[in-house]
Amino acid sequence: MDIKLEKTTNPKEKPDEKNLGFGNYMTDHMFLINYDGDKGGWNNPRIVPYAPLEIEPNAVALHYAQETFEGLKAYRTEDGKIQLFRPDMNATRMINSNRRLCMPEMPEDMFIEAIKEVVKVDKDWVPSEKDTSLYIRPFMFTNEGMLGLHVSDHFLFAIILSPVGAYYENGIDPVDIIVEENYVRAVEGGTGFTKCGGNYAASALAQKEAEEKGFTQVLWLDGKERKYVEEVGSMNIMFVINGEVYTAPTEGTVLPGVTRDSIIHILKDWGIPVHEEKIAIEDLMEYGKTGELEEIFGTGTAAVVSPVKSLTYKDEKITVNDGKIGELTQKLYDELTGIQWGKKEDKYNWTVDIEE
Ligand code: COI
Repeated sequence: MDIKLEKTTNPKEKPDEKNLGFGNYMTDHMFLINYDGDKGGWNNPRIVPYAPLEIEPNAVALHYAQETFEGLKAYRTEDGKIQLFRPDMNATRMINSNRRLCMPEMPEDMFIEAIKEVVKVDKDWVPSEKDTSLYIRPFMFTNEGMLGLHVSDHFLFAIILSPVGAYYENGIDPVDIIVEENYVRAVEGGTGFTKCGGNYAASALAQKEAEEKGFTQVLWLDGKERKYVEEVGSMNIMFVINGEVYTAPTEGTVLPGVTRDSIIHILKDWGIPVHEEKIAIEDLMEYGKTGELEEIFGTGTAAVVSPVKSLTYKDEKITVNDGKIGELTQKLYDELTGIQWGKKEDKYNWTVDIEE
């Protein structure tokens, strides 16, 4: 790709790395590329100063939500190197999301090159404070102005960057979760497996009501029988029952998480049985009462490995591991973040260096 570079003449002051939170600060630059069917597809790749985008008020994305996105991170290692974690998985997932939303598929090599180049330009924004990283948000939407419903041929793909700390306010402290009984996130044949803005918009009301009741997130049940657990608003979820790990299968309604996949690999490597199968919420609550449900944790790029302290379903609450982070959860967190920050051997070849 021949990427044009326009550097900012007005660099921002960098935030305090000890108080980043999640998604509060944007770096100095962003990557943009257009896709226009009538111009032979992808055209005009550029890195420009981070600034508001110009968009027609009748752009299809604003009305009909033809939008997809991804999330990954760049990590600064102790020796000052910058590395990505499994960007090929994000490229593939975005291809699958775009196929479902009738949007052009960006080839994997182009997707990774764009990320590397924009991160290189903003390399001084990759934080080095413990547990911080540079969150990378590629996204794409239909920027064609047209109110009639039709399949568009004009898109903008962008990558923005944000130095981040922990996703949840309390860091790795266990969170309280409520099982959602009224609303559904995804149904078979829908877009549950994609990373599209619409899935998150459809989840917002449940999230708001959960927060009003004092919960951090909702746990979604399947959209048909409202019987089986699927995922949490911002992460996949895993349950440790009698020493074995259970998580919902990614069969169309659940997001195929990169962290989910990585944790499954690590667990299998450690000889811990992992079951990707349907788990009924009623059974889970029962295991919670007998104490057989030993740990619960969420997995996600933003959330990393996040312990869950309690589940509330139909006004019944079970507390897991006395509300403390479980041993396996902590071990998985240490292993995964150890690889991501280059402190542990990357025997899976998951990290990708950003050559400066
Ligand atoms: C991510 O983990 O990268 C996500 O996109 C989740 C989002 C809710 C922050």
